[in-house]
This record gives sequence, C-alpha cells and structure tokens, in this order.
Amino acid sequence: MKLVKLIANLGYGSRKDVAAMFREGRITDPQGEVLYADDKVPFDAIRVDEKPLDPPAGMTLMLHKPVGYTCSTKDPGRVIYDLLPPRFRARSPSLSSVGRLDRDTSGLLLMTDDGALLHRIVSPKAKLAKVYEATLAQDLTGSEAALFASGTMMLETETTPLAPAALEVHDPRHAALTLTEGRYHQVRRMFAAVGNHVEALHRSRIGGLGLADLAAGKWRLLDAGDLETLFGANA
Ligand code: URA
Repeated sequence: MKLVKLIANLGYGSRKDVAAMFREGRITDPQGEVLYADDKVPFDAIRVDEKPLDPPAGMTLMLHKPVGYTCSTKDPGRVIYDLLPPRFRARSPSLSSVGRLDRDTSGLLLMTDDGALLHRIVSPKAKLAKVYEATLAQDLTGSEAALFASGTMMLETETTPLAPAALEVHDPRHAALTLTEGRYHQVRRMFAAVGNHVEALHRSRIGGLGLADLAAGKWRLLDAGDLETLFGANA
C-alpha cells in the first residue's frame, strides 16, 4: 500500500493532510531522514513527528468502560472513543466495539477492526462466557438461579427461550451472572423478569479474559496470547 494511504487509514488525517505532512518533512525514518510519499519502507521504520505509527490494521484492544459512556460513534454525550487516542476514531478499517455495554454498565469491552475476529467472538457458536457482576435493589429470593439455568426462561418480546445462565450469589444483593449469549439489555431484563432491579452492572470477564488491574477509563492492546486466553478451551 502507498504510504499516504497507509498513514491516512491509521487516522492521521485525510490523504491530502498526509501528503502535506510529507511535504513538511514530518514523516521520517528512525534516524530522522525525511521520507517521501513514494518510498518503500517497512511499517516499523516509519515515524510521524518522531513517533512510531499506531498499530496497523488487525488491532484489538480491551477497554475498561466506565459508567456514563455510550458504545457509539454518534451519541452527543460521552462515547467510548473519547477514551482512546483521537486517531482511533478515524481509522479505516474502522475500530468497533465487540457487542455493546449499556451506558450505565461498566467493565470489560473489546474493540477490534478485524471483522472476522469480531464475528468469532460474538457468534453464538463460540458460546464465550460473559460474566456480569450485578448489584440489586431487592434481596434475591433464592429461586432465581434455577430459572436462569433452566434454558426455558422467556423474556418479553423474545420468541426463543434464553440459553441456560449460571447465577452465583455472593450475598442477597450481589451476584455474578454468566451468559453465553448477548440479547438486548439481557441482564437487566432477566432480573426485571423476577421482580428485581439492577442498580449497578459490571462485566468482569469475557471467555478467559478479565480486566486484571486495568483501571476504569483505561485501555490496552491485546496480543496473540491475550486472544488465546480469551478463547481458552474454545481456541
Ligand atoms: N446486559 C445488560 O442488561 N446490559 C449490558 O450492558 C450488558 C448485558
């Protein structure tokens, strides 16, 4: 790929902007030698304003989504892209979230520009477990776990029953719910269906991958090892 297109696709600017950056001598090799738009150089040997390029296409990251951010590019309020370098919003192929978390849900969110990987993660066939920590408005009654695990639970407006889900009760107002599917507002709707209300919701795990010590609002790139951890036994 031509350098102008490659750098523009990483979100550094339009092709016109990047062409201007070449003319201004802002694109160099690691020794500071100015590069020209028709040079043939390896990706790792390109610097913009003396800094290495952002990761090439095929980028996957995890974000610790805080409450109050929407998984959208267009919402007028706070969006997850506000937590990433501004260039990431302008990349091509575009970086999208793997599924969504509600504005009021915090926790582990994956983002990728790799469509095949995205489908592999969200595909019902993958049956990747997603663990949600819920804080509830009412005490649990003790009957929820059996219903959630039954494989016959129906939510209003849905035409097929929910796949079995595992509920681990920590105390009467706190429980972890493990899902292998991702229906709209599923956790909140499941607790609403049993007369409860989710006051706070946090996703702590997808497959074998957790947030570890990643603080709210922070992100990190995933490598091949992380993806193996993600798919675990499903790899
Ligand atoms: N279930 C919900 O209700 N909300 C989320 O954000 C994720 C799962």
